Order: sequence, then structure tokens, then C-alpha cells
Amino acid sequence: MTGRFFRPGRWTSHDLNDRRGYTAWRLSLQFETRRMISAEMIITIDGPAGAGKSTAARGLAERLGFEFLDTGAMYRTVAWACLERGIDLSDSEAVAKVAQGLTLTFEGESVFCDGQNVTSQIRTAQSSEAASIVAAVPAVRHEMVRLQREAAANRNVVSEGRDQGTIVFPDADCKFFVTADPKERAVRRHAELVAKGEDEPFDDVLRQIIDRDERDRTREVAPLIVPEDALEVDTSSKTPAEVIVDLEATARQKLGLASSTSLFEQA
Ligand code: DC
Repeated sequence: MTGRFFRPGRWTSHDLNDRRGYTAWRLSLQFETRRMISAEMIITIDGPAGAGKSTAARGLAERLGFEFLDTGAMYRTVAWACLERGIDLSDSEAVAKVAQGLTLTFEGESVFCDGQNVTSQIRTAQSSEAASIVAAVPAVRHEMVRLQREAAANRNVVSEGRDQGTIVFPDADCKFFVTADPKERAVRRHAELVAKGEDEPFDDVLRQIIDRDERDRTREVAPLIVPEDALEVDTSSKTPAEVIVDLEATARQKLGLASSTSLFEQA
């Protein structure tokens, strides 16, 4: 995987600041010009936990030469920081304060929180549970959405999460909703945990997936729903490489990009 850089927390919107004070017509003219020059394209991939979104999004971004934005990692990092600081997760105000004060940095596949590498810490079962809770706090979502939009400005991005095609980038050029049967998703998650030496009983993993789906789907803010104009992709009986090939073909067609050599040819 190529090392791509994403630094949402550090990005400043120089363009926007420079434009303050211009008249409205000048603003819109510059915006249009910027769009024409940069021609940024956004692909969103939403879906439930363990459906293979991350692998698909990373692979697709790499194949297209786009940046990859892992928004789940952002919520996980907020959750981890709260746990580290002993914050009561039911105290929404305290959780929101943590979210607003963090500097989140992505470097390739590594995630940094205020300069500390937290890549493995945010993937534990405890962080997953906590992420689902902090993600339901409106002020946390507000802050993450702001950072996500800032991160994607003027870039070609594959953005993965739960609300990317619905809330964060409703005008995205291409939207996917990646899903899989809950049992299949539990099998995958369980295998990941075993590989990391965290051998949780399978039934517990399955229950956590079902509970998390329920929380993500029924929460008041930004519930997990299929965006109206998204293509649904069921990965239950597909390999990750097959999913990437499918997404790439559709994305290239939708975005008007020339087709590329297939994954299999490339190897
Ligand atoms: O995709 P993931 O498992 O890394 O996401 C972790 C949690 O964050 C999960 O409970 C859903 C939530 N999330 C969200 O609410 N919105 C997003 N855009 C991404 C993740």
C-alpha cells in the first residue's frame, strides 16, 4: 500500500481565509474556477461494520490514485482519547470537548492522536464499542464532519464510513453502499481478532456486530442508511480483490476515467 498522507487536523483553509471580504459574485466565480482547475472527485463508501469497506476503499483509492479517508478511525481515535482520559462516555459535553481538542493525523495506514501513534489501540474491541457510543454524540459528529470536509477539499478522495454519501458528501460523484451478511461479517471480524491474539468467543463477536448495527441504524444523528443514489454491493461471497475490481469498474465508468489493467494482470 502506498503511503498517502492525510492530515485533517492540521489543515488550514488558506483559500477560504484569503477570500474573506470579497463580494459574493467574486466568491462564487473563484469557487467555480478552483473546481475547474482542481477537478476534485469524491467517491463515498458507506456500510455496516465488518462488510469490507476499509479494504475496498483502500484498494480502490490505490487503484485510482486517490487519497483514502478512514472516517471510522477518526471516531475510534476520539473514543480512545476519552477512555485514556477516564471520561464518562455518557457525558456528551465532556466527550465533545475531547473531540474538539484533538489533533488527528493520518500518515499512510498509521493514525496519530496529538502526535502519538494509536493505530493498534483504536482497533481493540473496547475502542470499537466506545467509538459507537461517541459517534452518537451530535457535537462529535459535527466536528468530525467539519474535519472530513476540510480533509477532502481540492483532493480526489475515496471516503469510507457510515454517513459519507448521505451527510458529509451528498454531492459525491460516485457512491457505494457495501454490505455483507452479519454472520459472514462476524467470521471476518473474529479472524482479525484471533490474528491479533484477542480470541473472543465467536458468539460474542456476532452479538457485538448485531448490536453495533442496531445502534448505528437507529441513532438520531446520521443513522446508517443507504444513500438514495448509491450502488449496493454485497461482499458476502466475494474476495476483497473481486470487490475492488467491481468498484473500480463502476467508479471509472461513473467518473469518466479511462479503464486500467485488472488487479490480476497487474500482479
Ligand atoms: O468503520 P469503523 O468500525 O472503524 O467505525 C467505528 C465506529 O464509528 C462505528 O461504530 C461507526 C462509527 N462511524 C460513524 O458513525 N460514522 C462514520 N462516518 C464512520 C464510523
